Amino acid sequence: MENKELIELALEARKNSYSPYSGFKVGAALLCKNGRAFTGCNIENASFSPTCCAERTAFFKAVSEGEKEFDRIVIVGGKGDSEPSEFCTPCGVCRQVMNEFCNEDFIVIIAKNQNEFREYKLSEILPLSFGKKILNTKERL
Ligand code: THU
Repeated sequence: MENKELIELALEARKNSYSPYSGFKVGAALLCKNGRAFTGCNIENASFSPTCCAERTAFFKAVSEGEKEFDRIVIVGGKGDSEPSEFCTPCGVCRQVMNEFCNEDFIVIIAKNQNEFREYKLSEILPLSFGKKILNTKERL
């Protein structure tokens, strides 16, 4: 699937954002290595801490459907209903969830629309990460 199509899916998912407290609407589209795509939006809560980000919604949907091999994710976010005017970078918790299921070559795309997007590797946005390899080794940094 092309980036443009994945961005369109993320923009569509953003419309379902449940964000009455922040008014900040986020959409994500996660592409599996086998070509399946899963979308997600942020889902807020009156008690605040149960809020789930769009990226984690997409990951948890995919993993719960049996997927564990991922290629890329697109993230779009901004205040209100109009097209995002800024790039929305993934929060630290979502980067950590990506790190659980993806290797350092996983691509994170932040987009405003189909023509304006930036692409990063997970290793660039989560350097010195903590992950399963550390738990399984006796080596120290
Ligand atoms: N949010 C996301 O969905 N993804 C991110 O990576 C950043 C933050 C959501 C959480 C909350 O509903 C709103 O944006 C404001 O923080």
